Amino acid sequence: MFSGLYAGKKVIITGNTGFKGSWLTCWLLSLGAEIVGVSKDIPSEPSMFNELSLGTKIRNYNVDIRDASALSEIFLSEKPDFLFHLAAQAIVSVSYSNPIETITSNAVGTMNIMEVLKKADWPLIAVLITSDKSYDNVEWVWGYKENDAIGGKDVYSGSKAAAEVIIKSYYHSFFKKSDVPVRLGIGRAGNVIGGGDWAKDRIIVDIVKAWSEERSVEIRSPDATRPWQHVLEPLSGYLTLGQNLSTNPELDGEAFNFGPRAEQNRTVVDLLVKMSESWDAELPANPYVIVDEIPFDEAGLLKLNCDKALFELKWDATYDYRETVAATASWYAVNLKGETNMFDFTMDQIKLYSDQAAKRGAIWCR
Ligand SMILES: NC(=O)c1ccc[n+]([C@@H]2O[C@H](COP(=O)([O-])OP(=O)(O)OC[C@H]3O[C@@H](n4cnc5c(N)ncnc54)[C@H](O)[C@@H]3O)[C@@H](O)[C@H]2O)c1
Repeated sequence: MFSGLYAGKKVIITGNTGFKGSWLTCWLLSLGAEIVGVSKDIPSEPSMFNELSLGTKIRNYNVDIRDASALSEIFLSEKPDFLFHLAAQAIVSVSYSNPIETITSNAVGTMNIMEVLKKADWPLIAVLITSDKSYDNVEWVWGYKENDAIGGKDVYSGSKAAAEVIIKSYYHSFFKKSDVPVRLGIGRAGNVIGGGDWAKDRIIVDIVKAWSEERSVEIRSPDATRPWQHVLEPLSGYLTLGQNLSTNPELDGEAFNFGPRAEQNRTVVDLLVKMSESWDAELPANPYVIVDEIPFDEAGLLKLNCDKALFELKWDATYDYRETVAATASWYAVNLKGETNMFDFTMDQIKLYSDQAAKRGAIWCR
């Protein structure tokens, strides 16, 4: 897979204790990489990081990326081959209650990452994760392309847009025409679902918490549509981007969207119904109730156009909607029963996903 590129390589993952970081750790471990994690905390209780005992499988630094000197020390002593930068205050609702932490972690933290990359004097490939929310959401029906305007009306979106501007300005000022041996790319994705997420105010987490207590889940915007995708989709995109950056200097400094197939644009209610069909445990009599209260403004439809990833990286999403929801529901249902080693189960889900991608001809499977 990925032409064996990651085997034996040292990879720093920032935000490794979070939802996507835990999955990426598992995938890279399965590819034979040595993982070094940098995170300020374990962001939820329970957490996938602890449930899978990932702390015993990697070297983990408990460091805040706003601490520029601690970050620099880690990079200069570890000298990684790859960086996947995921650390961020990633919850939209928290950006309303704690805008300063959101901006300092997401924008200033990214600036510190760029400072560290600027000092690297060894070959290093960096994949920097922002969000679909980096786009200025003008609520149109078309998918956003990589050259559309960046912006944000809520602080989370604004902080991710700010991270993009910082990356771009550092790239043009210090990387593009210099001999810094770093190549970097930006990954934008959103509406990610999958087992192991326990973050606050995310629809799947709300469903799982309610149903595990045999309660109805409260939903606020039943007809809101989102292009749901399994967490392994953007991760396969980030790993593909890392692989392509290592062979193709033309991609240096480029941003890529990673999103699901078009037919996965479904309503919240549709997601609930599909989840209930795959829920291999007791369900409450009313799986959901609709409530009026809207605690914070959330932007409407935001769809990504992923033609650039298809054209330049030959990357495409693997799972259809049914497979996406079934993989998500089964992870939580198995976890709830408490009888299965969740590290092994997660590794099996990665293998199933990769096998399916290979069957569908994904180039990264070679
Ligand atoms: N989950 C999604 O649906 C989604 C969608 C779009 C983009 N993203 C982006 O993907 C990345 C990972 O998201 P996630 O869902 O895994 O988030 P998460 O909340 O599960 O985990 C966040 C991680 O970042 C770390 N972190 C936060 N602030 C930090 C700081 N100042 N210093 C060091 N570490 C810090 C936390 O310790 C944790 O490891 C984020 O950049 C997020 O913005 C996520």
